[in-house]
Amino acid sequence: MPMPLAVLVSGGGSNLQSIMDKIDAGLVDAEVRVVLSNKPGAYGLERARAKGVPTAALPHADFPSREAFDAEMVRVIRAHGVDATHGAVVLAGFMRMLTPEFLRAFPTRVVNIHPALLPSFPGTHGAADAEAYGVRLAGCTVHLVDEIMDHGPVIIQAAVPALSGEGGEALAARILELEHCIYPQALAWLAAGRLSVRDRRVLVDGAEAASCGEPALPYLASPGLEPGFRPA
Ligand code: GRF
Repeated sequence: MPMPLAVLVSGGGSNLQSIMDKIDAGLVDAEVRVVLSNKPGAYGLERARAKGVPTAALPHADFPSREAFDAEMVRVIRAHGVDATHGAVVLAGFMRMLTPEFLRAFPTRVVNIHPALLPSFPGTHGAADAEAYGVRLAGCTVHLVDEIMDHGPVIIQAAVPALSGEGGEALAARILELEHCIYPQALAWLAAGRLSVRDRRVLVDGAEAASCGEPALPYLASPGLEPGFRPA
């Protein structure tokens, strides 16, 4: 059975799109069962509808507490057949912290993407913060979610060189291009049962140490991106 996924978005949903496209291409053995958003106008919901994927808009301000909001998300996610044994919850630009109660409903099955090389530059503006700091290498991270923001065990990271004077937006755009490669790759590994977690370490069964590409988009990814997941 394809791994059932619930994808949570707050914005444009380009990562959601990349995941759905790689599923359609037969590269990720998963099925997006539902896309949820705390923002009814999120374009990510449109992207889901365009693919015939069920959606749920749950404005967080309609709930009396964070716990009540998360409890309703858990209910909706489970109602679409996403459970903690076979399924996964995918945060794709979801701009809200999850409660411990939510995480306990899906232990080690909640994943997130962050536009920086964690543990550097956690928070809402990872790529811009890295550019403002003047780093020479920037990138993105897919990790398991724990109770601390942008903190859980790392599945895959990819780096790009920062170009002097390019500005935060241009750097973020190149990082986003890589996000669209590493997130589906991480989910493919999860769906194939190739990930195991020991303490903070995620082992990826059978993965190459790293892969790199040039010249169109110079990058370094570790573990390495497999064919089909590399930047076009
Ligand atoms: C991405 O940069 C992601 O890393 C961050 O939020 C952004 C979401 O972009 N968590 P999109 O909605 O997937 O286009």
